[in-house]
Amino acid sequence: MAAQSFRMSEILLIGTFVVTSLIRFDCAAVKVDSDGLKLCVTSRRGMKDLSYQNLTNVPSDLSNDTQYLDLSYNFIRRLNPAPFSNLSQLCFLKVTHCGLQDISPAVFSHTVALKVLNISNNDLPFIPDLSLKHLKILDLANNLYTSYQLPKSFQNLTDLDILLLGSPSALSVKFNDFDPLANISLQHLVLGSGIHWKNYDSGSLAKIKSLQKMSLLASFCGTFEMFEDLLVDLNATQVKSLRFVTVFPDSCRVRSDPFRNLRTMPFIMNLTIENTWINSSFMEVFLKNVWISPLHDIAFVNITYNEDTPDGFQFHTINHTINLNSMTFNGINHYQYKYPKINMSFEAISNLTYLKFSGTGMNILPCRVISALPSLETLDLTDNLLTESGFWWFQCQPTSVFPKLRQLSLSNNRFKSLSFISIKMHEMKTLESLDLSFNSISLDGYCSWPAQLKELNIGNNYLGNSVFQYLSSNFERIDLSKTGITAVTQKDLSQFPKLTHLQLTSNSIQVIPSDLTVPTLQSLYVDQNTITSISREAMAGMPRLQTLKAGSNPFVCSCDSDWFVTTFNKSLLLDWPLDYTCNTPPSLAGLPLSDYKTSELLCEAWLQVAVALPVMTAICTVMGLVFLKCDGVWYTKMLWVWIRMKRRGKKRSNMLKNVSFNYHAFISYSHQDSDWVDSQLVLSLEGAGFSLCVHERDFVPGEWIIDNIINCVESSYKTLFVLSKHFVQSEWCNYELFFAQHRAVSVQRDSLVFILLEPIPTDSLPKKFLKLRSLLREQTYLEWPRDERKQQVFWASLKSMLHMADKSVILKDVALAISDTVPLLTDQV
Ligand SMILES: *[C@@H]1O[C@H](CO)[C@@H](O)[C@H](O)[C@H]1NC(C)=O
Ligand SMILES: *[C@@H]1O[C@H](CO)[C@@H](O)[C@H](O)[C@H]1NC(C)=O
Ligand SMILES: *[C@@H]1O[C@H](CO)[C@@H](O)[C@H](O)[C@H]1NC(C)=O
Ligand SMILES: *[C@@H]1O[C@H](CO)[C@@H](O)[C@H](O)[C@H]1NC(C)=O
Ligand SMILES: *[C@@H]1O[C@H](CO)[C@@H](O)[C@H](O)[C@H]1NC(C)=O
Ligand SMILES: *[C@@H]1O[C@H](CO)[C@@H](O)[C@H](O)[C@H]1NC(C)=O
Ligand SMILES: *[C@@H]1O[C@H](CO)[C@@H](O)[C@H](O)[C@H]1NC(C)=O
Ligand SMILES: *[C@@H]1O[C@H](CO)[C@@H](O)[C@H](O)[C@H]1NC(C)=O
Ligand SMILES: *[C@@H]1O[C@H](CO)[C@@H](O)[C@H](O)[C@H]1NC(C)=O
Ligand SMILES: *[C@@H]1O[C@H](CO)[C@@H](O)[C@H](O)[C@H]1NC(C)=O
Ligand SMILES: *[C@@H]1O[C@H](CO)[C@@H](O)[C@H](O)[C@H]1NC(C)=O
Ligand SMILES: *[C@@H]1O[C@H](CO)[C@@H](O)[C@H](O)[C@H]1NC(C)=O
Repeated sequence: MAAQSFRMSEILLIGTFVVTSLIRFDCAAVKVDSDGLKLCVTSRRGMKDLSYQNLTNVPSDLSNDTQYLDLSYNFIRRLNPAPFSNLSQLCFLKVTHCGLQDISPAVFSHTVALKVLNISNNDLPFIPDLSLKHLKILDLANNLYTSYQLPKSFQNLTDLDILLLGSPSALSVKFNDFDPLANISLQHLVLGSGIHWKNYDSGSLAKIKSLQKMSLLASFCGTFEMFEDLLVDLNATQVKSLRFVTVFPDSCRVRSDPFRNLRTMPFIMNLTIENTWINSSFMEVFLKNVWISPLHDIAFVNITYNEDTPDGFQFHTINHTINLNSMTFNGINHYQYKYPKINMSFEAISNLTYLKFSGTGMNILPCRVISALPSLETLDLTDNLLTESGFWWFQCQPTSVFPKLRQLSLSNNRFKSLSFISIKMHEMKTLESLDLSFNSISLDGYCSWPAQLKELNIGNNYLGNSVFQYLSSNFERIDLSKTGITAVTQKDLSQFPKLTHLQLTSNSIQVIPSDLTVPTLQSLYVDQNTITSISREAMAGMPRLQTLKAGSNPFVCSCDSDWFVTTFNKSLLLDWPLDYTCNTPPSLAGLPLSDYKTSELLCEAWLQVAVALPVMTAICTVMGLVFLKCDGVWYTKMLWVWIRMKRRGKKRSNMLKNVSFNYHAFISYSHQDSDWVDSQLVLSLEGAGFSLCVHERDFVPGEWIIDNIINCVESSYKTLFVLSKHFVQSEWCNYELFFAQHRAVSVQRDSLVFILLEPIPTDSLPKKFLKLRSLLREQTYLEWPRDERKQQVFWASLKSMLHMADKSVILKDVALAISDTVPLLTDQV
């Protein structure tokens, strides 16, 4: 080993950086919100978002199928048990930014299914008592409690995976604070609120056994012994991953070696330093510990870097193996103004397999990076300012270009020419995957891709439908998200015999063609397009499909979606059911597709025939029975009468054209009521100058009585029915009614006037008076009052009904209507 003494004095330049305040990087923090969603929500109906509603109380009318409840950004000071008493399915509760001060202990006694509770960013003066067996994620960060003393009840949180604690008022950690967590195997503890701790009782964190990951949000300056104690305790928890946020404040001068303990922490694998000022002098001391430690992965996220040593950080003698194989710089703010550099020797990291350099403002890739990292398998240069000429800098004459590189990400840079890049890729002999998303790529000519390149992401570049012609037939995975594609054809995809993964998210594709045949395809993303339905035929061409993402499309809820909703295997869908909703028809817009009930009967032609035959037979049988049972004879009689009436049609319409009505009203009544008709009705109306056709009196002798009735009805402006029990029982009256009501329907509804002599319950009417029943139900009728004063009103109303507004208009209407009479039977049934 000693023989292998390295003397590396050579200074390697790892990049020339333009001064930039550009800090864009993906937050390394766990995106727990979305995890919580997946953990909890099975249907859109179970989601209630009541954030930003100015609520001062939790609404009490929450439905008991609520699974997800977001009450953040309201003014809820206290949580009371009542609104939660029925929420037995509540799984996700978020009440942040509400000024919450108090939580009644009974709140959670009924919400037994709660898995995610986020009550961060409130004013809680104590850590509340919680005894939720299924709780997995608990966020109590940014409250006002003064101590981290956990209540005893926390020992019941046996399922807890992630716990976030932090309060600007809690300045010290006491020996017994975390005792209740002793027997809980926590995945991730996030502790602190970013401020300087006054005191840490050695041994307190060591109580937590089997911690996987720890994020510490606290500052240590001048109290580095406290920090070292903390590392000793974390070593005892056997934590594998450590994240220190804001560990040194900007003004802090770090002279000692606070990370010395890293050398003897055998369990630690990953270390992240975040939101911290780092000087090159500190970096050198720090990394010397890292080289000796068992760390595999180190990351610097959002750091301000200041070179306060003349030649950056150097490691002149390394006579041992370094375990580190992954290094990340994500978001680097350079303190110096003029062309800042990071100078470091590469030999220590020559065995790296993963390097990420993003959010650094780099515009030229240093030549030495290309050959000094012979083991590098993944190079992530996302989010810099690289162009073709910056990445392939003309002064570099590398003998071999990343000899082991398999994955290269150039996402979010300034690359333009796809043909140039495709040719340059031949230099990287082992490259399998290339990410060119979020650039300004254009299709500028023939592309020649190396055969070993199997995966290409050129999403978020505007390319259009012709893009397929510029890709390699060796591609197995292609990401064309948001590239302006409007249609995919079988011809496009037939060029890729090995295609297994295709992403077409966020385009404007309207259909998955039914002739599409991609036998190798395992995964297809067509979400956020304009697809209205997914057909059985289209899916039949992809027999190997294991995952499909097709949500956020404007689905049509009709028979077209029937197969997809009822038959398609939903376990293939990554985003079912949350992202699938009906868009059309408008009446169903917004309905979750999973709630859309299609009817197989309506959508399957062969079923329709199969069902229709027996149904028709049944209907015919029933109709036959009905005919026999239910006055079929009566209706037939009516039909015959109707035919007679039709024959009289011409004569009648001529009469109507030239002649005015003979009578104001035809009075239809039962003999039994003739007393009232003669003494009251006729007397009163004829006394007022109305002419009436009263049967018996005005019927033409010798004519068939039905002809008489028809004549009378048709030469009268209105037909008055004197309704009584006798009327209903009288057969003749039935006939009269029959014609009159027919005329009323086909000519003008208000030609009928009903006078109710005595109450007749609608239901007591025989079934065949269907029309009378419904007319009685809807039409207002005049009730004959016993009270004499009311009778005055009765007569006045009746007379006003009989006044003809304009005879000629009425005549014309009548004539027109009779000429296209409604068929008798349809009217009646
Ligand atoms: C809790 O809510 C806050 C505010 O929305 C959010 O920043 C935080 O990530 C949430 N915590 C968890 C664990 O999801
Ligand atoms: C809440 O109150 C603010 C200010 O009074 C108002 O602008 C806002 O529209 C209110 N929001 C709701 C959802 O009522
Ligand atoms: C929700 O309440 C309804 C009645 O309001 C009841 O029928 C149903 O069983 C309840 N569901 C649950 C899960 O408690
Ligand atoms: C809870 O459900 C019961 C019936 O299931 C109902 O009577 C009661 O009003 C509900 N309480 C709340 C707070 O909704
Ligand atoms: C833990 O839960 C059990 C039963 O679920 C209960 O009896 C006990 O009081 C709880 N412990 C604490 C400290 O709340
Ligand atoms: C943890 O478990 C041990 C034995 O299994 C027990 O003695 C101890 O009281 C438990 N501690 C807590 C806080 O539950
Ligand atoms: C970490 O724990 C191991 C044994 O588990 C021990 O050998 C080592 O000295 C500890 N390191 C520190 C810094 O406490
Ligand atoms: C970094 O160096 C500057 C002087 O160049 C000093 O003022 C600052 O306190 C140092 N910061 C740290 C974190 O060491
Ligand atoms: C980056 O770190 C600085 C402190 O060094 C902090 O003020 C800033 O908010 C951080 N930025 C983000 C996006 O976290
Ligand atoms: C630790 O780093 C490795 C890469 O070396 C990574 O795959 C893994 O996810 C990291 N673990 C955690 C807990 O961050
Ligand atoms: C490695 O070099 C250091 C001096 O830099 C020396 O102290 C140490 O003994 C050497 N270790 C081995 C194994 O040679
Ligand atoms: C790199 O790996 C080789 C073989 O695995 C090993 O001999 C060498 O010491 C390693 N170099 C460093 C700097 O760790």
